[in-house]
Amino acid sequence: MTQDKGAGQRMTGLQATGQQATGQRTKGQQTPTAQQAAAGRNLWLHFTRMSSQASGQVPVIVRGSGPYVFDASGKRYLDGLSGLFVSQIGHGRKEVAEAGARQGSELAYFPLWSYAHPRAIELAQRLAELAPGDLNRVFFTTSGSEAVESAWKLAKQYFKATGEPGRYKVISRDIAYHGTSMGALAITGLPAIKEPFEPLPPGGVRVPNTNFYRAPEFVADDLTAFGRWAADEIERAILREGPESVAAVFLEPVQNSGGCFPPPPGYFARVREICDRYGVLLVSDEVICAFGRLGYYFGAQRYGYQPDIITFAKGVTSGYAPLGGMLARERLMEPFEEGAATFLHGITFAGHPVSCAIALANLDVFEKEDLLGNVRAHEAGFRATLEKLGDLPIVGDVRGDGYFYGIELVKDKATRQTFDDDESERLLRGFLSPALFEAGLICRADDRGDPVIQLSPPLTCTQEHFDEMEQILRSVLTQAWSKL
Ligand SMILES: Cc1ncc(COP(=O)(O)O)c(C=O)c1O
Repeated sequence: MTQDKGAGQRMTGLQATGQQATGQRTKGQQTPTAQQAAAGRNLWLHFTRMSSQASGQVPVIVRGSGPYVFDASGKRYLDGLSGLFVSQIGHGRKEVAEAGARQGSELAYFPLWSYAHPRAIELAQRLAELAPGDLNRVFFTTSGSEAVESAWKLAKQYFKATGEPGRYKVISRDIAYHGTSMGALAITGLPAIKEPFEPLPPGGVRVPNTNFYRAPEFVADDLTAFGRWAADEIERAILREGPESVAAVFLEPVQNSGGCFPPPPGYFARVREICDRYGVLLVSDEVICAFGRLGYYFGAQRYGYQPDIITFAKGVTSGYAPLGGMLARERLMEPFEEGAATFLHGITFAGHPVSCAIALANLDVFEKEDLLGNVRAHEAGFRATLEKLGDLPIVGDVRGDGYFYGIELVKDKATRQTFDDDESERLLRGFLSPALFEAGLICRADDRGDPVIQLSPPLTCTQEHFDEMEQILRSVLTQAWSKL
């Protein structure tokens, strides 16, 4: 049933600069510290070639302050990726950490299985107030993958409870990343990270994404027509699969993987229309895009559409503790409100009291410092600063919205020719990742689609930080070009 195709085949994993930054030890590199050596022996890094750790040179980040982090030797790095799209308020906020500590001494743990606790109640109420429309029901998880998994399970059980038991399929976009648990992976559109785990749960169906830079020729000159075509591909997929078998469409407001694809004008309005026509749920996967990344609490608010479910994680706590969840519309809970009906799903640590207390303190910072206002005030400057890089021969496209950008690298700007696997390997892993990290910028060189550099800085950043990013990128990308 899964219909992944094309792009993304060559990718080997997530790659934040730093993770692969110290592949082979070269002349001049220091011997590993005791901690690095211990990491080499015992710590299994995620989505990381462990062969690259053989030299025991894993970067060890020990502390953070504002948009900067520091390694064990005291060297400073601009955190241009907010860790992993997480640290919205920046690092080192004592008041947020202390909110967690206070909660820990008051009530460190109690489950949300049959019980509630004050912080989960307060946070659910606050999120429902912030979310668009009647997304009033909050189901907590501990992570984004669990949020996506929960949304699919809810869609399936909801349709079974409402007399449409045949609806189980999920539509998502090529190269989109929706998480790593088996269900979330079935929704993910990256063949290379799925293949080792096949067979995955059946029902994942792929449609084109909104990468206008790589649009098919017949709509390549018209963004609105491209958006209409991409949305209509969802309708075609629903019809092909049989509407009575399709439960939900999972879309990010701005697709991360592949390098920040914003929705063309009219795209989401059209998708909403299509979902309504065929009774399919629209899930806005906002694990990255919620909590200010796009200048709004939720990406759906920026682009003006009403999802049936929003999945979230990451920025809800700015990473001071793990938390995720889904916000569901009232009607999705109705079948579970009578008699013995129960959503048969739960997670021990979901809605952990410490995480909820931290999320509340995180949202207090958003309000006190008007972080949404900061993003809206400075996003044009961020875009303009990154667009300056367009004069480099290796920069093909700069795209994104808010504080969320991808820079696509090309071999030939005129033809938009991309790099072959070998060049991509040499350029991204061999040179760019370590060079950007060395130069003091944490960002992501990613080749899950065509090669891109991704930036997603803390929402507190202003022009001085954009300039710092631009200067480092300019210098390193210029060197990269000379090495091709
Ligand atoms: C859109 C989206 N969904 C889901 C996930 C999975 O989240 P987690 O890594 O917290 O499981 C991610 C992670 O980056 C994501 O970007």
